[in-house]
Amino acid sequence: QCSLTGRWVNDLGSKMNISTVNTDGYFSGSYHTAVTATSNEIKLSPLQGSMQRSPNQKGQPTFGFTVNWSFSDSITVFTGQCFVDEDGKEILKTMWLLRSHVENIKNDWKATRVGINVFTRLQSPE
Ligand code: BTN
Repeated sequence: QCSLTGRWVNDLGSKMNISTVNTDGYFSGSYHTAVTATSNEIKLSPLQGSMQRSPNQKGQPTFGFTVNWSFSDSITVFTGQCFVDEDGKEILKTMWLLRSHVENIKNDWKATRVGINVFTRLQSPE
């Protein structure tokens, strides 16, 4: 069984905290990114998402969440699946789209970045 609730760290060193997932699958939390495409000072940002609650998910549910960056005018959406690996360790395999704000429609072509992130559970205090 893979549970989204708790603290996670990804391959970039970004940390997120997901509070309880409600009965409808909705959750919220906070995200502290380790990196930014801007020159702004990084600040803790809110996230909101939902998890697929179908019984076919077999304890390894799919999910999506949005991070609405508090220190930039961008938005990131993540989609992924919560897996239990061969050692019984929980792991989140995600893909993301980072949408930047551009001044006009001519610049739309360069407004979206894409990538992957792998999250593991964060044990240490902080
Ligand atoms: C911005 O630079 O406008 C906001 C921060 C974006 C951070 C991105 S989101 C995808 C990737 N994964 C992370 O943990 N951080 C970067």
